[in-house]
Amino acid sequence: MSRLHQALDPTKTGREAESLDRTLRKMIVGQDEAIEQIVDMYQMYLTGMTAPGRPIANFLFLGPTGSGKTRTVEALAESLIHNPRAVIKIDCAEFQHSHEIAKLIGSPPGYLGHRETHPLLSQEVLNQYHTDTVKVSFVLFDEIEKASDALWNLLLGILDKAILTLGDNRKVDFSHCMIFMTSNLGATEMAALSAPRLGFQSFHQNGANNGSVVIDEKLNQKLSKTGVEAARRKFTPEFINRIDKVVVFKPLGSPELRRVLDIELGLVQQRVLHSPSEKSFVFTVTATGKDFLLSEGTDVKYGARHLKRAIERLLVQPLSNLIATDQVLSGDWIQIDYDSDDRRLAFTKEAEGLEVTAMANMLESNLEAPPMAAAACVVAETTKGQLAKSSKK
Ligand SMILES: Nc1ncnc2c1ncn2[C@@H]1O[C@H](COP(=O)(O)OP(=O)(O)OP(=O)(O)O)[C@@H](O)[C@H]1O
Ligand SMILES: [Mg+2]
Repeated sequence: MSRLHQALDPTKTGREAESLDRTLRKMIVGQDEAIEQIVDMYQMYLTGMTAPGRPIANFLFLGPTGSGKTRTVEALAESLIHNPRAVIKIDCAEFQHSHEIAKLIGSPPGYLGHRETHPLLSQEVLNQYHTDTVKVSFVLFDEIEKASDALWNLLLGILDKAILTLGDNRKVDFSHCMIFMTSNLGATEMAALSAPRLGFQSFHQNGANNGSVVIDEKLNQKLSKTGVEAARRKFTPEFINRIDKVVVFKPLGSPELRRVLDIELGLVQQRVLHSPSEKSFVFTVTATGKDFLLSEGTDVKYGARHLKRAIERLLVQPLSNLIATDQVLSGDWIQIDYDSDDRRLAFTKEAEGLEVTAMANMLESNLEAPPMAAAACVVAETTKGQLAKSSKK
């Protein structure tokens, strides 16, 4: 044997992991650490390097409401098995009393109702979304700080041994699961730290140049530290030791919310194209229109949730009125702008009778124009597919 002495690069990731990384970054804004950790653990699983007898990964997600904790898990399910709902969610707030644990594991034989209770955490439930190629389950324990001691003990067993014993003594294997736990612990302290930076100036006072809110690296580190310390204060060392990664989600600043806005507008466009009203039209939002939505949708406390509500109220509901009253028809192009006199969005029909391909091209060029997020291009792809389908009808 001749010695090769060839240097290898252990920082390079495999193709599947890279592709997952790319897809997640298109859907999730500003939470790169979470994406990197998930992709790393997934690749460990793909290469068979996960520790035997343990779940694929145990994550604790901390951080403020509306920062993407739940969305990240859904986006992972969407990326890997094309179904954002393929997540088994356990809302820990529903299991605050020890007896409620029977809903999760079923009651022992002989107990009243034993046959009627179907445990929420059976092997069938865990495996229900497995596909021929991806045999991974995503389990999300929301608001774990609210869990009762009984649920807590169950969790410790799952995290450590990847085994859960049901009421009737059957064993459930969690070794093909990625386990995510979320908590808002430390979110209040984090909000206090970032509030001065996230201080919001009214759109009406500042017009299109409303105050930009930026979260820099130094603040990021402070926020992470605050989150992790809050978790250490609340949770026992035996719990913290069983977690592979604690990820602190950051509050979303202006540039991030702007990208979330583009993603959400892309999703509304998709909704329009999939709607049962069969009215396939395209809409575009001007830069001032977007600034207005952002100003109305920025709230330190509620993150992207507030922005989503603003989009529903100011754009989706009026659009629905326009559809219901036949002011908008298939093949229309609707431009949405800000009307400074009425201080609301103004909807204008710019074209009608557009061919499907013309609409697809319009969406594509519009979605490619900066500052649209790359994610929107994915939407464009789907949209094109959908438009192509509707043209065949
Ligand atoms: N970082 C993000 N990137 C893209 N979209 C986001 C992001 N954060 C939030 N959103 C949008 O806001 C919605 C609400 O976010 P999500 O449910 O993930 O919040 P959360 O962090 O789980 O909050 P909570 O602590 O209240 O459960 C998501 O469905 C998504 O549309
Ligand atoms: Mg959540």
